[in-house]
Amino acid sequence: MAIKLDNDQERILTGITTTGTPHLGNYVGAIRPAINASKTEGVASYFFLADFHALIKCQDPKVVHESTKEIAATWLALGLDPSNVVFYRQSDIPEIPQLSWYLTCIAPKGLMNRAHAYKDALQKNIDTGEDNDFGIAMGLFSYPVLMAADILMFNATKVPVGKDQIQHIEMARDIAQRFNYLYGKKFSMPEAVVDDQISVLQGLDGRKMSKSYGNTIPLFLTEKQLKKHINKIKTNLLEPGEPKDAETSTVFQLWKAFASQEQLAYMHKEFLKGISWGDAKKQLFELINDELKEPRNRYNKLLESPDYIESILSEGAIKAREYSVPFLEKINKSIGLYPLGIKKPD
Ligand code: TRP
Repeated sequence: MAIKLDNDQERILTGITTTGTPHLGNYVGAIRPAINASKTEGVASYFFLADFHALIKCQDPKVVHESTKEIAATWLALGLDPSNVVFYRQSDIPEIPQLSWYLTCIAPKGLMNRAHAYKDALQKNIDTGEDNDFGIAMGLFSYPVLMAADILMFNATKVPVGKDQIQHIEMARDIAQRFNYLYGKKFSMPEAVVDDQISVLQGLDGRKMSKSYGNTIPLFLTEKQLKKHINKIKTNLLEPGEPKDAETSTVFQLWKAFASQEQLAYMHKEFLKGISWGDAKKQLFELINDELKEPRNRYNKLLESPDYIESILSEGAIKAREYSVPFLEKINKSIGLYPLGIKKPD
């Protein structure tokens, strides 16, 4: 299916940072909803591997490289169809860092001070008595600007993200508004799309599932490893037969993210009846495994064909640049960067 690029069209865009191994939280919070949304007719979808973002957190070239491959394979294995989605690697689109600089020049520093990744790093320094700026790179500080460039480069209207990313979409809107005010309307206002029910998945220890907490369940474990991880989920000491609280249970929260309405009601009852933790975890394993079994096989095959993945990304970059190259040219003109002697067209 050809992708239409008229400017009033709904455009869905999302990125996934290429560090580490994708986990169930990434799947439930970002990948699955994005792939589902991409199947809607009449919507142009842009999905990309955010490898520039990876450099903020990771200076190990091998890890950066391998993760790009793993994450590309993940999206493809989970059913992303590159013929109805523009699927690309951020670093293949030089217009993005260029736009990012333009936005850096107008983004208020005070806005960046409020970004939660930066604030967390700052707070850690305060708590440990370090200098405020210890270990904080400019990349971390201005990361929301790069993210704004990712979004605005393609005039995305909808951005499916986890709850923790909403702030960044709001910042992208603020920056876009400022740009539009200064240079005339170029950008549409992106909106975050968050699935309220299951946006942030809990990890093994009950906190948000996150690479930085080391509490994740990787997406494509072998069955044996998946079982092992699920068995490690923290529970309380209630015995079989004692009613258990579904709302505060990580096992239940994970169940909810994979269950149909019926399965949800069923497990809710089981909790009230006092299902044993062992049994609940066994059923949880089966539920998750059923959904991931086939994608896991496809994933393993894809990892053995990096050239195939590369060819898909190259095609994606060509499609993405069909939009970004002329659009950046328009932006260049609007900010005063165009050949001397040429009358500025509007
Ligand atoms: N920062 C996002 C995350 O950590 C990844 C990302 C980068 C992104 N650029 C984006 C998501 C643009 C949506 C749109 O999850």
